[in-house]
Amino acid sequence: MSAPTQAAATPAGPADPRALRTALGQFATGVTVVTTVAADRGLVGLTANSFSALSLDPPLVLWSLRETSPSMPAFRGEDRFVVNVLAEAQVEVSRRFATPVPDKFDGIAHALNEHGLPLLHGAAAWFECRTVARHGAGDHVLFIAAVERFTAAEQAPLVFHGGRYFALGSRL
Ligand SMILES: Cc1cc2nc3c(=O)[nH]c(=O)nc-3n(C[C@H](O)[C@H](O)[C@H](O)COP(=O)(O)O)c2cc1C
Repeated sequence: MSAPTQAAATPAGPADPRALRTALGQFATGVTVVTTVAADRGLVGLTANSFSALSLDPPLVLWSLRETSPSMPAFRGEDRFVVNVLAEAQVEVSRRFATPVPDKFDGIAHALNEHGLPLLHGAAAWFECRTVARHGAGDHVLFIAAVERFTAAEQAPLVFHGGRYFALGSRL
C-alpha cells in the first residue's frame, strides 16, 4: 500500500487507542524478559518488547515500563537488571512473564549472577545492565542503562508482531 493521504491518516489521541495499538503492532520486535531482584519480593521479571539498542560507545540500551506495573517498585529500588532476549522456543516463558502471577520463576530454569539477578536458561542473549537514567514519559517510565556484561547464544530469536508470536521467516 502507498502512503496514506493526510485526509485518510488517523490523528493519534486517546480517542482510539485500539487503532494506535494496531498500527504500532506493525512494528515487529524481538521479545525480552527483564529481570531484577527486590529485597521484599525476591526475583522479579516481566515480558517487554520496548527494549532497544541505544548507543555502542558507551554501550547503552533502553526499555520502558508501565508506571502502574506491580514490578515498578522493584525496578525503582534496584539499579541493576538483566535483559533476557527470548529464543523462539520460549513462547511459554514470554506468556508466563506477561501475566501478573505471584511466583513467575516457579519451574523456570535460571542462574543467578554475582548481583543475585536471574539469567533465564535457553535465552538467545543476555544483557546485564545498570540503570543510568529514568524518565517519566506518558504512562510509562523509560529506563536507560549501561551494559556491564553481555552474552549471545546461537539461538534463533522469538518475534512479536500484531499481538502474535512468530519464528523468523526467510532471509531476504
Ligand atoms: C510481547 C509483550 C511485550 C510487552 N512489553 C512490555 C513493555 O515493554 N513494558 C511494559 O511495561 N509491559 C509490557 N508488556 C506487559 C507486561 O509483560 C505485563 O503487564 C506484565 O504483567 C507486567 O508484569 P507485572 O504485572 O509483574 O508488573 C508486554 C507484554 C507482552 C506480551
